[in-house]
Amino acid sequence: MIEHPGKTFQQETSYHRDSIQDLEEHGLDWRSKPPLYKFYSHAPVVSLPNPAHTPDEDPPLDLFTCVARRRSVRSFGATPISMLELSRLLWASVGITASFITPHGQDFYRASPTAGALYPVETYVVVNKVEDLEPGLYHYRVAGIDILERPIAEGSHSLELVRAGDLRSEISAAALDQAMCGRAGAVILYTAVFARSVWKYRERAYRYFYLDAGHIAAQLSLAAVAQGLGSCPIAAFYDDEVNALLGVDGETEGIVYMTAVGKPSRPFTSKADVRHTARPKE
Ligand SMILES: Cc1cc2nc3c(=O)[nH]c(=O)nc-3n(C[C@H](O)[C@H](O)[C@H](O)COP(=O)(O)O)c2cc1C
Repeated sequence: MIEHPGKTFQQETSYHRDSIQDLEEHGLDWRSKPPLYKFYSHAPVVSLPNPAHTPDEDPPLDLFTCVARRRSVRSFGATPISMLELSRLLWASVGITASFITPHGQDFYRASPTAGALYPVETYVVVNKVEDLEPGLYHYRVAGIDILERPIAEGSHSLELVRAGDLRSEISAAALDQAMCGRAGAVILYTAVFARSVWKYRERAYRYFYLDAGHIAAQLSLAAVAQGLGSCPIAAFYDDEVNALLGVDGETEGIVYMTAVGKPSRPFTSKADVRHTARPKE
């Protein structure tokens, strides 16, 4: 039993001049590179609406207003979130934003940065109250796949239904009984598929899983504000219970972070909020 696992982790995953060559690109076995995508091949698939804004919509809030207005919101009302809002949350955090043709097919780049373009984070959605979407557990399908198992744009940005059912009590209990998880329209869960980054970065990869997930959750929090939604990042959870809910083993893939999101139960412009939303230099 390690006495100070956090401290040991920090030390053991540090780079040093004399050891870095072993850890980075040198000696990579490209044949054993793990696949970048996870699929639930037999799951029913729900396409998400196009996240792009149309000319007849009000323009979205500008980035700096979103930053100024972002607060962790833990109190959600009865109004469901819409499929379009969910689509935009997912697109702005983990969706494909660029693609490049390569000799081997197509490479996709996503909304949030990731160490080495290895994208170890998988995204799941516990749907409590989303218009036109059956409650249950969904997995976000980033890209589609062709018969040679190469990623393609067709079938991208959709949800695979992993398990239908009301998961409000289960998700709240697993998150240290945080009731907001049951009241939120949806809870977005981020796991890491550890081998994807360990393949290149070895033990240091364990730093990167959390950094990647942090980027993703941050972008989702701003995409929430832009749509008048509230969100709260959550790292207080029983890992084994969340992993069991997701059906992952915690060894090859495990929960790293989550975000509750929904319609706030009170308008955002209360006095308390305004106090916190002064723009820089105001
Ligand atoms: C890594 C991390 C874990 C967090 N976990 C929780 C959590 O489990 N429950 C919760 O209510 N808030 C959680 N929060 C939200 C923080 O409490 C919140 O960000 C902080 O109080 C600052 O408030 P603000 O987000 O409104 O700026 C977490 C935030 C971070 C960054």
